[in-house]
Amino acid sequence: MDSSSAEGHGSAAASVKANSRERVSRALREGERLSELVRVAGRSLSANALRFARRVETSLGVWRLLAPPLVLHSRRRMYVAYRPDCDVVHHLHPELAVLAESWVKHTPKNSGDLPRLYALAFNIKQIIAEGVPGDFAELGVFRGNSAAVLAHYARQHGRSVFLFDTFEGFAAKDLSRTDANKVRDFAATSVDMAREVAGDSQVVYVKGRFPETVNADTERRQYAVVHLDCDLYEPMIAGLRFFFPRLSPGGLLVIHDYGGAHWDGVKRAVDEFTTGINERLVQLPDKAGTAMLRKSA
Ligand SMILES: C[S@@+](CC[C@H](N)C(=O)[O-])C[C@H]1O[C@@H](n2cnc3c(N)ncnc32)[C@H](O)[C@@H]1O
Repeated sequence: MDSSSAEGHGSAAASVKANSRERVSRALREGERLSELVRVAGRSLSANALRFARRVETSLGVWRLLAPPLVLHSRRRMYVAYRPDCDVVHHLHPELAVLAESWVKHTPKNSGDLPRLYALAFNIKQIIAEGVPGDFAELGVFRGNSAAVLAHYARQHGRSVFLFDTFEGFAAKDLSRTDANKVRDFAATSVDMAREVAGDSQVVYVKGRFPETVNADTERRQYAVVHLDCDLYEPMIAGLRFFFPRLSPGGLLVIHDYGGAHWDGVKRAVDEFTTGINERLVQLPDKAGTAMLRKSA
């Protein structure tokens, strides 16, 4: 080896070293952001999920040096992914910090479903930014976690939000045909519990079995955002029939559990209904397979 190539080798080694130092500090900076996620979600993650997230956090620097970017996953359901840059880097959605707290209140398992929270928030903001007229509604409220997102933006922009639920879980009458194999669920709630999460101002709680709870007021309204999350065929088809004609042009229809394969009645109702209208669904990769559509003008 002549001296010039030895020298060349030396400077190459120095630059590799500098490069890895930069990569290490970059990985540590990323690690800090992950710590923030673990801190926010940590209070509500299960002990196992938290242990996993901490392990990922500690080994993140090393993993990133090996093969960035990695999909960080457990062998089971959870993975650690980026949060949207517009929130964590550019801070365009400061309200998400508060909404994230409501998202997990009394329902800790929601903490892993951040894509769903972001998708709801960003699309509602889009509707507002475009000036789509109308109120908001949700069918299937349970403890008010997703309702809190609708209620936040409704309050901020002078709209009302109508929250339909039995607040006693599935109605026996709906556990028939497609859903005869399902069991009574979501009974562990109440209007007060949902109110604690979604608040009171500009929120109307409509208690009872949908669609029997529809009244002249909810019938005459126009809706800009409708969130259907009622798990079963009967309320889902009734919700689509009631809300779709009342959805404003450009309005947002969010259907939870469409692609998740667990609530087969939801998919059946939605497929049946959408074959008769000139609209197309977009599916999201959140936990239970949310689908959305924006009504044509
Ligand atoms: C999965 S939970 C809703 C969860 C909630 N959207 C969230 O993300 O926080 C489904 C809810 O649908 C409600 N539900 C189902 N069928 C209904 C019906 N026919 N009328 C009113 N509520 C109904 C149940 O009582 C239950 O609270």
